[in-house]
Amino acid sequence: MAHVTVIPVLLIFSFFQHKTLFSTILASGQEDIKDARRLHNVLWTTRDDSRVILSWKNNLTKEETKNFTVKYILIYKFFNTTKERKERLQEKEKIIHLKLYSGFNAKVKTQLFAKETEDIIKESDWTEFTYKAPPVYIQNLSCIIYNISFFNCTWHIKAEAPEDIQIFTSYRHIGKVFVCQQYIKNTRKKNIGCHMKEIHFQPSRKISLNITVRNLRNSSSELSYYQAFTPQTIEKLNPPINVSVSLENRSIEIHWKPPPTIGSAKKKCFLYQVKITDRKIVNVTEENYKYPFHKSAKKYAVQVRVKKEICIANKIWSEWSEPVFIHDEKTVDILLLSLTLFCPLVFLGGLLIYACRRYRCLEAITTPVPRPSDKITTWLADEIYHQEHMSMQMEMHSEVTLGTTEENRDENIQLQKCLKELVLEDL
Ligand SMILES: *[C@@H]1O[C@H](CO)[C@@H](O)[C@H](O)[C@H]1NC(C)=O
Ligand SMILES: *[C@@H]1O[C@H](CO)[C@@H](O)[C@H](O)[C@H]1NC(C)=O
Ligand SMILES: *[C@@H]1O[C@H](CO)[C@@H](O)[C@H](O)[C@H]1NC(C)=O
Ligand SMILES: *[C@@H]1O[C@H](CO)[C@@H](O)[C@H](O)[C@H]1NC(C)=O
Ligand SMILES: *[C@@H]1O[C@H](CO)[C@@H](O)[C@H](O)[C@H]1NC(C)=O
Ligand SMILES: *[C@@H]1O[C@H](CO)[C@@H](O)[C@H](O)[C@H]1NC(C)=O
Ligand SMILES: *[C@@H]1O[C@H](CO)[C@@H](O)[C@H](O)[C@H]1NC(C)=O
Ligand SMILES: *[C@@H]1O[C@H](CO)[C@@H](O)[C@H](O)[C@H]1NC(C)=O
Ligand SMILES: *[C@@H]1O[C@H](CO)[C@@H](O)[C@H](O)[C@H]1NC(C)=O
Ligand SMILES: *[C@@H]1O[C@H](CO)[C@@H](O)[C@H](O)[C@H]1NC(C)=O
Repeated sequence: MAHVTVIPVLLIFSFFQHKTLFSTILASGQEDIKDARRLHNVLWTTRDDSRVILSWKNNLTKEETKNFTVKYILIYKFFNTTKERKERLQEKEKIIHLKLYSGFNAKVKTQLFAKETEDIIKESDWTEFTYKAPPVYIQNLSCIIYNISFFNCTWHIKAEAPEDIQIFTSYRHIGKVFVCQQYIKNTRKKNIGCHMKEIHFQPSRKISLNITVRNLRNSSSELSYYQAFTPQTIEKLNPPINVSVSLENRSIEIHWKPPPTIGSAKKKCFLYQVKITDRKIVNVTEENYKYPFHKSAKKYAVQVRVKKEICIANKIWSEWSEPVFIHDEKTVDILLLSLTLFCPLVFLGGLLIYACRRYRCLEAITTPVPRPSDKITTWLADEIYHQEHMSMQMEMHSEVTLGTTEENRDENIQLQKCLKELVLEDL
């Protein structure tokens, strides 16, 4: 009998439970999901050296906290910036690194969700909060790691900074604190940068920079600002090494090797750019590039630069490598062509003179007028026209050849005249 009674009781009970839950959802869902009056947030901040902790609490009952999923929406924006950062959190606090911002505006909203269905039960209004930091006297901070172990940071001093300040800097890396080795100063002897070398960087461990503005008149008004960097992301690589260039099959082949780096040296991490004289810069992921040329220039200057792109987001390009110059095949061709043309030309010159003389001999029998026929003149002219740049050489050569032959002097003078005329005409 016991079995028979228990089941209906359970059924009735579960039905009842279901109904009440359903009605509460309906009630809260339809009447006011945004139950601002009943749900209230309080925000406050605490500050330690380098960060601000924004915390909040609400007046949800213990039961509500237990029965529902509570989530928070946080939106915050640093002063004088446009980017709004939005986060959905389950914790009741957020650590905000101020860096060089002079404060932020934040707002928080509490949301209650049904555990199973994840339907929203109710939510609060936004609660706003403004955090105003002590004055920030520096801006435009930028740091760079280069040549493996060198580290430079620079900053500007804001115009509103008091006159009697000096700026000091140190950084923490892998649990150790290092002070600035060499300050970079402006004309007013204020420190506006720091140069350090022989540093061993752990590529994935943060560098926490501490910039302290000290009032030289009032030691109790010291202000410190903090900013952290991941070494790999601020590394400026040296230019690619062993850049070599060769001419092959009417294309320029360029080979190079990646420079040393503090981070991963995997092949796929590097992105290269190749610059050939004033041609368009091309992106290359391999360690070589082939440039087929259509139009030839006399001389090409080849340069390559590099940065990390795929393994790590890095915006800093290396300097361009020293230009490697190469002479175009065509330039070499022209030189060879000139040389190969010169010999036959000498020969041709000789032949020409011989032919002319021969012709003159024949002509002398038939007509008394000592002039080369039109045919020969045109032929000569064509020949000279085609070898335009060689004409002077040819002329000189003919003069020399003609000058040395004593016989038929008159004829030679005549021919010389004729040649000179033609040359001058062409020029
Ligand atoms: C939460 O706080 C608000 C404002 O103080 C109040 O009106 C509301 O009744 C409170 N809700 C609960 C559940 O305590
Ligand atoms: C930066 O923001 C603060 C707070 O919103 C404002 O008082 C200040 O004038 C702003 N400064 C500049 C340079 O816009
Ligand atoms: C320095 O920073 C200010 C604001 O942060 C910006 O307006 C200005 O253009 C920056 N100057 C340089 C030279 O980057
Ligand atoms: C780069 O570093 C090497 C070794 O640390 C050093 O010999 C060289 O002078 C540095 N180059 C520059 C341009 O500072
Ligand atoms: C780093 O600072 C030193 C000292 O002022 C300077 O000589 C060097 O050119 C700087 N290097 C870079 C890459 O900014
Ligand atoms: C930052 O540097 C200042 C000046 O040296 C020092 O007083 C302060 O304690 C440093 N902050 C941290 C977190 O080390
Ligand atoms: C020194 O600085 C502190 C903190 O900013 C300030 O309360 C105090 O009045 C200053 N003293 C003088 C002499 O300016
Ligand atoms: C670069 O060239 C030098 C000299 O030719 C050679 O000793 C070195 O091994 C080359 N480096 C690489 C990475 O190929
Ligand atoms: C030269 O290039 C042409 C066309 O690009 C190709 O057909 C030929 O095989 C190449 N010759 C050599 C030796 O690479
Ligand atoms: C080359 O790569 C850079 C960096 O990723 C990119 O900004 C640029 O648009 C690329 N240029 C071309 C022609 O693809």
